[in-house]
Amino acid sequence: MLPREENDLLTQVGPATPLGRLMRRYWIPALLSAEIPEPDSPPVRVRLLGEDLVAFRDTQGRVGLLDEHCSHRGTSLFFGRNEECGLRCIYHGWKFDVDGKVLETPAEPADSTLKNKVCHTAYPCREAAGIVWSYFGPQESMPLLANYEWMNLPPDHLYVTKSVQDCSWLQGLEGECDSAHLSILHKAYSERQRGGGDPDMYAADSAPSLEGSETDYGIRMISCRKADAGTIYLRVSNIVLPCHGFIPTGGLKGNAEGYTIHSHVPMDDRHSMRYNIHFRRNRPIRAEERQHEREIEANYRKVRNLQNNYLQDREEQRHETFTGMGRTFLVHDSCATESMGPIYDRSQEHLGVSDRTVIAMRKFLLQCIRDAMAGKEPPHLIRDTAQNDLRHLACVVAKIPSTQDPRQFVAEQLKKEKYWETASE
Ligand code: FES
Ligand SMILES: [Fe+2]
Repeated sequence: MLPREENDLLTQVGPATPLGRLMRRYWIPALLSAEIPEPDSPPVRVRLLGEDLVAFRDTQGRVGLLDEHCSHRGTSLFFGRNEECGLRCIYHGWKFDVDGKVLETPAEPADSTLKNKVCHTAYPCREAAGIVWSYFGPQESMPLLANYEWMNLPPDHLYVTKSVQDCSWLQGLEGECDSAHLSILHKAYSERQRGGGDPDMYAADSAPSLEGSETDYGIRMISCRKADAGTIYLRVSNIVLPCHGFIPTGGLKGNAEGYTIHSHVPMDDRHSMRYNIHFRRNRPIRAEERQHEREIEANYRKVRNLQNNYLQDREEQRHETFTGMGRTFLVHDSCATESMGPIYDRSQEHLGVSDRTVIAMRKFLLQCIRDAMAGKEPPHLIRDTAQNDLRHLACVVAKIPSTQDPRQFVAEQLKKEKYWETASE
């Protein structure tokens, strides 16, 4: 269990909170590039870290992320006109550029200098992997945007979606730490309903041994299941600061092809946006991998959601899937985490051995928060281009002899040029 005070520390994300301040030190996903597809396309609302914002793409293709409320008298800029390199408020025509500079105040006298005295809140943006990343922290400590391998792929090798989660970001991130639930929550009894992963993931050993170790980017997690008397089924996944889970997908066969990133970005204390970034290194994404298309609506709400009980089918639950909610992992995860309530009170929980990596992640995050409060530089802020090579964020699936030390095995893989080609049957 977690004392109330620590629960608050890990779930409150506003600008004046310790976690909110830590989150603001990193580049985080703000929206999909496709939401503002072309120059001067309509602006969109963005709720992020407890702030109401609007995003727009200006005439030159640059992305702006501005405080939603006009600096003049507060009308929403969502309704504004996106024209000639600026977003113009529809009330009195004040016009703002992507940096928040006031370009025009047409209701003021021609010689007015008011526009030079006002600076509208604007956050810097960069685009990579079909996502607009934004930085909310102090200008002088802005890090580089981390150069993950999936940021340098052709667009058709990536499948990126997002969905609103009606719960705290931490509930989502805890799911990424929790390899034990793979064998249970996502279990399917029929091949037709198997959403992904290896048969060994669902095999008899539903109580994997789990280990989480701290790294310079977050937590590396190793889970080991007994596949048979002489073999271990091993998985390596990662929690990457500030809010990402890097998870192997596609099982033993798919290990060399790529992995999946789930980012749990706080919208506010009670809501988060889950970004799903699925990539394949050497081939385009296949139609059958686009499972979210039928699960997420145009407003980024889920078709199956808490209000409609995730359209649970009790007959299917008896015969085909553990949940009765179809084959898409996103739906299972959402039910598990949203049904806890918007902010779960962790003073009520009863943790077991299967929660070891959840505990390790919380401990690490609390330490990061406390260190940042004491003025220490947070981990995984990249400042040197030469060090922006993040291959050690390994996601591995492999079968190894049970006589082999899993930690030793992983350490050896990480030394290899292409660790992902080492999975063995
Ligand atoms: S409220 Fe926006 S210009 Fe007046
Ligand atoms: Fe899951």
